[in-house]
Order: sequence, then structure tokens, then C-alpha cells
Amino acid sequence: MGVGESGAALSGKRVLLVVGGGIAAVKIPDLIRRLRERGASVSPVLTRAGAEFVTPLSLSALAEEKVYTELFDLTDEAEMGHIQLSRQADIVLVAPATANLMARMVAGMADELATTVLMATDKPVMIAPAMNVRMWEHPATQRNLKQLRADGVLVAGPNEGSMACGEFGPGRMAEPLEIVDALGRHFGSGPLAGKRAIVTSGPTHEPIDPVRYIANRSSGKQGHAIARALGDLGADVVLVSGPTALPDPPGVETVHVETAVEMRDACEAALPADIAVCAAAVADWRAEAAGQKLKKQEGQPLPQLALAENPDILAGLAGRTTGRPELVIGFAAETQNVVEYATAKRKKKGCDWIVANDVSPATGTFGGDRNAVTLISAGEPETWPPMAKTEVAERLADRIAWYFGHDGPGAPE
Ligand code: PMT
Repeated sequence: MGVGESGAALSGKRVLLVVGGGIAAVKIPDLIRRLRERGASVSPVLTRAGAEFVTPLSLSALAEEKVYTELFDLTDEAEMGHIQLSRQADIVLVAPATANLMARMVAGMADELATTVLMATDKPVMIAPAMNVRMWEHPATQRNLKQLRADGVLVAGPNEGSMACGEFGPGRMAEPLEIVDALGRHFGSGPLAGKRAIVTSGPTHEPIDPVRYIANRSSGKQGHAIARALGDLGADVVLVSGPTALPDPPGVETVHVETAVEMRDACEAALPADIAVCAAAVADWRAEAAGQKLKKQEGQPLPQLALAENPDILAGLAGRTTGRPELVIGFAAETQNVVEYATAKRKKKGCDWIVANDVSPATGTFGGDRNAVTLISAGEPETWPPMAKTEVAERLADRIAWYFGHDGPGAPE
């Protein structure tokens, strides 16, 4: 994305900039300058360690805003409490995000103003990690990174390169312009800007009685990652999610549902859309739910479940005569003859593309972090190597952007 595009996306945006204590903090004045050039306003919050590398005075001169430092500054609390400070921004950017600051974010510590603001905010958070290569590669940091991503935190960088400490490798903070572009993408200036997408994710729960339900093992990881990847490319995304343990992806409108019928209704309410991606594992049947908890009764025949067929959400979206999303993509969960069965499913459901995955228990696809998929469209099936579900999502989003006429890495190989 060019600077001009990120400029349009950032104009009028308020960035709360948490400055961590690392040598990369010396790049923060340049970052503030670049953000302001693009029309964003910047309120810096200096950590105690950050104040060892840059002065409040230099940041406030560049930002032309007050620089916040301590939690118990009574004047600040009287003027604007830390809660309000955390909520008035459009995004909270942490740069440099040191190993220590990342660990404190994961632990949910609120031991100074910066970490308290990060705990109190209801806005998306982006970190730009910066640290020595060994610290970056340390299992603790990698665990923390994974947790932060799972908590919905956006990550810009780090880059690979030579470091202030003399070592070489990943851990160098992304350049100010790269961070600006990452923010620009977040605010919707990517190749899918102006496109609206509906994504279904997770299982559905079909009640049997007030306490029991029919379900499946879908975690929502694949669908949620797709929603986020489309959002990162600038699409306006509505994620219709069945019950999962995942946080709502940042920058995406999430509608929570329980049953297939509710999922269908939420998808229809989210129309019109340009793109629909149905990654949810929708229960094919629902039971006629009993009003009261079914009781075990000695000597009585076992209760029988009367099943009714659920609406097919994918087929419904693909078969619309008016208001059909231009690109309708399904998933096919198969345990044998994966490509053959998925190809037939694509025809039967009337979708444009179908992403086939093997869900045999040995693959760990249901609930796991990785997936191996074949993308089936009108042309030759295309098998992608096994990769993280987040990478499948990014690749699919790139392919969707390519479909809508943008150059980029999504073109078929
Ligand atoms: O959630 P995870 O743990 O990350 O796992 C990801 C996944 C395995 C669930 C995902 O990659 C996947 O394969 N999703 C589709 C699961 C499924 O129900 O497949 P299916 O072959 O039964 O259905 C085919 C398509 O029809 C799917 O796009 C499904 O969303 C859709 N469908 C099915 C039934 C129904 N009543 N309505 C639908 O929309």
C-alpha cells in the first residue's frame, strides 16, 4: 500500500501511542511526525522505561499534545482519568513493544499508566515489537506473542536486521513508515476497502432441552482468522460466530449466535455483501427441543430425538436470485476422497469456490492451529502446503483481493 492510501485511511484518526523502554524508542519522534503528516493525532503515553530513552518534552513538542506518564498524577486524573484516556483513541499503538512490556500485557498487569491504559481500553491494540534477537526468539516471548495474537492484538513487524546490540536477526522494530502502513491497512485502505464480507465461523449448538445440545468440535479458529485477514485487507467484515472460546477479532463486527437458524438469520441481516465465506461447521440437523430437562425414567423407553433438517446457509446465499454476494466461498469438511467430494459439494451448493480440508481425527484440523487445504474453483484444484490456519486465511484473503481486480500475491500459481 502506498503512503497516499495510508494517509487517507489515517486522516482524523486518534492514536494513543504507548512508548516502551527500548533503544528503538529513538524512532518514535519520526513515527509521530509520519502519523501527523497523514492527518492522525497522537497522544503519547510514556512508560517509566520509555522515559529513559525519549523525553516527554520532545514527544509533546512533536505531537502537540500532552504526554502522559504516571498513573497517580492527580492533575491528569482530575483532567482525564486513565479509563477515558484509553477510550478516546481509535487505536492504541505500543511502540517499541519490548519483551517486558509484552509479558506484562499477557499477564494483565496494570502497574503503571501505560499498562493500565492497555488493560482498560476497548479499542484495537497494535504492537510493534522491538528487542534483541535472542529475546525475540525466546520461547517465553514467542508464547507471549501467540497469546497476544489470540487476545486480538495486531502485530506490526518486527523486521530482520542488524541491531543496536551488534547482533543480527529478527527483533528490529518495523520502520515508522511500515507501522504507519500497518495502521492504514487496519483502518481500511487495503485492496478490499469498500467491499463488504460475511464470514461464518465455529460450530452451532442445537438444543435438545434447556441444558443439552448437539454440537461439533469446530473451534472457530479458521473462520475467525479469515474474518480478521479480510479486515486487515480493508474489507468491512461481519463475522457470524457460533459459540467459541475465541475473542472477537479486532476491527470486525462480530455477531454471536447459537443455532443454525440464528446463523442463517444473522447472515441474511448482514446482506448486502460482496463476499461470503462460510467456514462454520453448521449442524445439519436440529432436534425438537424439549421445554424442560429430559428426565431419566426407570423402566421407560429411552427418549427419541426427532430431528429436522437445518437451513443450508451456504446454499441459501449462493442460490439467491437477488442480492447474491458476488463471490460465495464454502468449506468442505471431508474424511475421504477429499477433492472429489468437495468438487461435487461445490456444484451442489452453487458456490463459486470451495476450500476442501481433510477433517479425519488424525489431521487435527478440527480445533487445531494448522490446516491443509485444496482450493476448488471452476479451474484446476489447487492444493496448498500444510500451514497455520492464520496463513490459510491470509492466502485466501489475498486470493479474494486478487479476484476483485487488484494485483498482489493472491494470483493463482
Ligand atoms: O473451526 P476450526 O476448529 O478452526 O475448524 C475449521 C473447520 C474444519 C470447521 C473448517 O475449516 C471447515 O471445514 N468448515 C466447514 C465445516 C462443514 O460443516 O463442512 P460441510 O462439508 O459439512 O459443509 C459444507 C459447507 O456448507 C460449509 O461451508 C458449511 O459452512 C456450509 N453449511 C453446511 C451446513 C449448513 N446447514 N449450512 C451451511 O452453510
